[in-house]
Amino acid sequence: MNTSPLTDKALLTQLGRMPLLSIPKRLVMSDWAGHIPFAFMLIEAMNPQNIVELGVYYGDSFCAFCQALKQNSFNAKVHGIDTWKGDIHIGEYGPEVLEDLKKYLDSEYQGMYELHQMRFDDALEKFPQKSIDLLHIDGEHTYKAVKNDFESWFGKVADGGVILLHDTNVFDKSDYGVYKYWNEISLSYPSFRFNHSNGLGVVFKGEKAAIPPSLQWLFALDPAEVDLVRSSFQVIGNGLVYKSKLDSLYREYKEIKKINDNLVVKDKNKYEMIIKMRRTLDRYKKMETDFLNLEAQMRKTSE
Ligand SMILES: C[S@@+](CC[C@H](N)C(=O)[O-])C[C@H]1O[C@@H](n2cnc3c(N)ncnc32)[C@H](O)[C@@H]1O
Repeated sequence: MNTSPLTDKALLTQLGRMPLLSIPKRLVMSDWAGHIPFAFMLIEAMNPQNIVELGVYYGDSFCAFCQALKQNSFNAKVHGIDTWKGDIHIGEYGPEVLEDLKKYLDSEYQGMYELHQMRFDDALEKFPQKSIDLLHIDGEHTYKAVKNDFESWFGKVADGGVILLHDTNVFDKSDYGVYKYWNEISLSYPSFRFNHSNGLGVVFKGEKAAIPPSLQWLFALDPAEVDLVRSSFQVIGNGLVYKSKLDSLYREYKEIKKINDNLVVKDKNKYEMIIKMRRTLDRYKKMETDFLNLEAQMRKTSE
């Protein structure tokens, strides 16, 4: 007889209600997708009043914060700061990114958010000291930039607040220095680091004794539990990473197909277009196979 706790109906129902298993409503293009389950859980545990994100781009992480607040009927404000012009790591992009984000946010989260199109340093004066409960730092990823962002915004975070730093686990790109900065600061505060999806550092601003009961588990794990928490969130997050990559490839394919369909048959560009389209389709198919394999693997592990 199967004695797995997963045959317990009550437990399954509970599992379905867990915030970390909610499906994100917006996934456009982000390495952050794998951290959304943790973001959902963190927001529920913190009930923050004031959230600030440095580096919004298409808004995948920003919208995850908004979704979690709405799901929990929390009354809070989420501020997003970005030039919406790009940086040395993601390159330059056009105004369509912000336009698309605004349209989406207005349809889903009107009144809950404020976007500030400016440099992070210029936005500092908008926020009083100790006014932010949750700060997410995800701008430029050089050591110098992340150190500046952390140090200039630290005073704006309330005692008992939480700071997230993305890309703590990128070691192989020459000018990424978040991991270096993380090594310098993480021992000075209660902290935890996820390693998947480029890494996410979580810092609690305050003494261990001040950590609220809903967050204590995260900062009091023994080494075996650290591994377990990291791998569990990685497994849950991976599905979203694949979904986000699949969706983005499919969008690319549809765009190329549209251009291709509009080309005159004898156009000399048509041949190149077809090649490009086929390559994208191949990448899409490969990704789909990977995704299905991953799903099968996950099913096997949970059997
Ligand atoms: C990695 S992306 C943010 C990704 C986003 N958090 C997500 O998960 O989807 C970084 C963004 O930070 C912005 N950025 C970088 N440095 C900045 C600065 N000093 N001031 C304002 N925006 C900045 C860039 O324009 C870019 O859109």
